[in-house]
Amino acid sequence: MEILITALTLLTLLAAAILIGTRGRPARFFSALGDSLRGIWINRGPLFWIAASVFLALGFVFFFYASPATRIGAAQPIPFSHQLHAGVKAIDCRFCHPFVERSAHPGLPPVEKCLYCHNYIIANHPEIRKEHTYYNTNTPTPWVKVFYVPEHVQFNHQRHIKKEVACESCHGDVKGTDRLKGTRFQMGFCLDCHRQRQVNLDCWLACHS
Ligand code: HEC
Ligand code: HEC
Ligand code: HEC
Ligand code: HEC
Repeated sequence: MEILITALTLLTLLAAAILIGTRGRPARFFSALGDSLRGIWINRGPLFWIAASVFLALGFVFFFYASPATRIGAAQPIPFSHQLHAGVKAIDCRFCHPFVERSAHPGLPPVEKCLYCHNYIIANHPEIRKEHTYYNTNTPTPWVKVFYVPEHVQFNHQRHIKKEVACESCHGDVKGTDRLKGTRFQMGFCLDCHRQRQVNLDCWLACHS
């Protein structure tokens, strides 16, 4: 929405500037612009190509590495924030992920758990209304999974949490993140820590099915 307003404002200002600059004959501006662009294209020398390649390369780098969309995680159906809930409001991880010590599938919280608070807190917030819709239609919230291990790996939280390996050592700074970015864990990540902590390194017995 803000982007739209900004874009419209800029366009209006530009139109006004063109009208004033050409004393009410905008066509002059466009034909002059067309002429100079055509000039650049016809005389395209080495400088043109260098500038064009640099521009393209920067665009590529931006979209693949630097654009905000690659730094934050997958869009979730509801913009749930761990930073707000687990960080600012200091709600314990286990309140929402209670099976993490007991099951291979710690699971994501069901709608009821959100409504336990949100029936009272900001109950009319549009995003919370969505939760009510999920609840009333018996639909599980379609959360997008963000942490993965390759299929043939059997990962179990239990052993790790018993040995007090912190959630953060694998999941990163959850309490400080709005949208979890997630990772596809590689074997090296598991082995580095297992080596440090002198845990079983017998991959086929321990980790692979
Ligand atoms: C233990 C209580 C509690 C639980 C459980 C809880 N929340 Fe919240 N939530 C809060 C509080 C407190 C706020 C801040 C309200 C405010 O801004 O006044 C909040 C705010 C929010 C907001 C608004 C954020 C914003 O940008 O204004 C959303 C969306 C939200 N929660 C979604 C969820 C979802 C989805 C769940 C279930 C997975 C959930 N909450 C579970 C306490 C809770
Ligand atoms: C108020 C409920 C709530 C609390 C408290 C909470 N979480 Fe979550 N968690 C969620 C919800 C909802 C999702 C799914 C949406 C998402 O990924 O943001 C989730 C997703 C995750 C995931 C990603 C799972 C996946 O692969 O998709 C991890 C890891 C996680 N939480 C860890 C933690 C840790 C660590 C803490 C404590 C620091 C914590 N959570 C506290 C509700 C909560
Ligand atoms: C030793 C590394 C490690 C630690 C420590 C760890 N996790 Fe995980 N977690 C993983 C891996 C790997 C996965 C993906 C598992 C999979 O895809 O089967 C995962 C997945 C999850 C999921 C998503 C499960 C699902 O059903 O989609 C949640 C939620 C989660 N972890 C919460 C936690 C919480 C809370 C803690 C701390 C109490 C914690 N984890 C500690 C490695 C870890
Ligand atoms: C931050 C450290 C750390 C990371 C990262 C880690 N582990 Fe572990 N892991 C441990 C510790 C400590 C134990 C020892 C538990 C015990 O002694 O009962 C353990 C034990 C295990 C066991 C049981 C081993 C046995 O003796 O039978 C398996 C299986 C396992 N990890 C798999 C994994 C996989 C798969 C990953 C990567 C997704 C991983 N671990 C990442 C610290 C880690």
